[in-house]
Amino acid sequence: MRAQQEKVGCIVTGAAGFVGSHLTERLLSLNCAVVGVDDFSSGNRKNMDTIFNHPAFTFYERSVAEPGLLAELRERHPGLHCCFHLAAVVSVPYSVAHPEETMNLNYRTTISLLEEAENLNFTKFVFAGSAAEYGDDQRLPLLEGYATEKTRHLSPYGLSKFLASRRVAASPIGAALRCFNIYGPRQNPQSPYSGVISRFIDLGIEGRPLTIFGDGHQSRDFVHVSDVVEAYLHSAGLTVPPASTVRGVYNIGIGKATTVLELAELIRELTTNNRQLSFLPVRTGDIRHSVAATEAFFRATGWAANISLQEGLSNTIHWMSTHSSRVTPTIPCSRPRLLHGTEPTR
Ligand code: UD1
Repeated sequence: MRAQQEKVGCIVTGAAGFVGSHLTERLLSLNCAVVGVDDFSSGNRKNMDTIFNHPAFTFYERSVAEPGLLAELRERHPGLHCCFHLAAVVSVPYSVAHPEETMNLNYRTTISLLEEAENLNFTKFVFAGSAAEYGDDQRLPLLEGYATEKTRHLSPYGLSKFLASRRVAASPIGAALRCFNIYGPRQNPQSPYSGVISRFIDLGIEGRPLTIFGDGHQSRDFVHVSDVVEAYLHSAGLTVPPASTVRGVYNIGIGKATTVLELAELIRELTTNNRQLSFLPVRTGDIRHSVAATEAFFRATGWAANISLQEGLSNTIHWMSTHSSRVTPTIPCSRPRLLHGTEPTR
């Protein structure tokens, strides 16, 4: 970060989410003052256990859809100048069932927040984009330029993230990070929308058969949440030593494809699970392969993932074995709760 003594003021929307809580924790460790916003529509209070009472953290149980939210927070916290916008409809199947709500929250609300940040002279607005912005494009590895208005989006989630990323990337203060398959501690294995790694580890630890959708030869670019957090810091110039901030849209992945079968074998070995794999029909809408081209962000910031899949899995297995993963399922409620409390929740 810029200087150990200087407190950089950051807002993290979605601070109670899987990635948002890790990002907040890391910003606090860098001596930043952090304002967290979450309406718990998909985030979980438990994810903030390690940070909730930190003296430099203030939490607001509010919806990012509330008009004028940034201006109000800036008035209360004049040091704020950087916004990490992670709050979103996070589930692809949910977005298919609720397209209008998804477009409103993931696209229109993002644009409103960005414009508010520009008007308030924020220095940085970093947006959580997604690999879903590439639809089912199979030109691999996926280059940032492949996502265009011609892309055949598979879900309102992918479309909303693409449109929002495009607008953010065009802003003088904007950076959109298209994260690939993120995994790590605190990802909830119980939700029907959980990532494959948290589900496999949960099954592995319980000694149950890992379930493979299709033949298992489909592949993904799995990136550990700690690496993703470092990418967020790099995008905002909050690194040691300080780096200049970047604009534009960038992929965040490890640049290496792992098949679901390879993943299952690794997790069975690491959890000493001897059960045979269980093969189920292909999941509707599943893309076959996905892997990021990672050079652009490396050239812009020097960031590269440095946690190998093996190391990241061991770390996640350790966490899941020592923490109760049985948290309340994070299924988004049908409507973001609008809470207009005047005092921050601490
Ligand atoms: C992921 C994201 C999604 C994003 C998309 C972009 C997660 C949880 N989801 O979806 O938000 O829009 O990338 O491309 O990160 N699988 C099994 N068995 C299981 C669970 C999954 O075989 O029990 C397979 C799936 O069929 C899929 C692969 O594992 O082929 C990965 O699944 P998943 O972790 O749900 O992620 P994506 O579908 O890639």
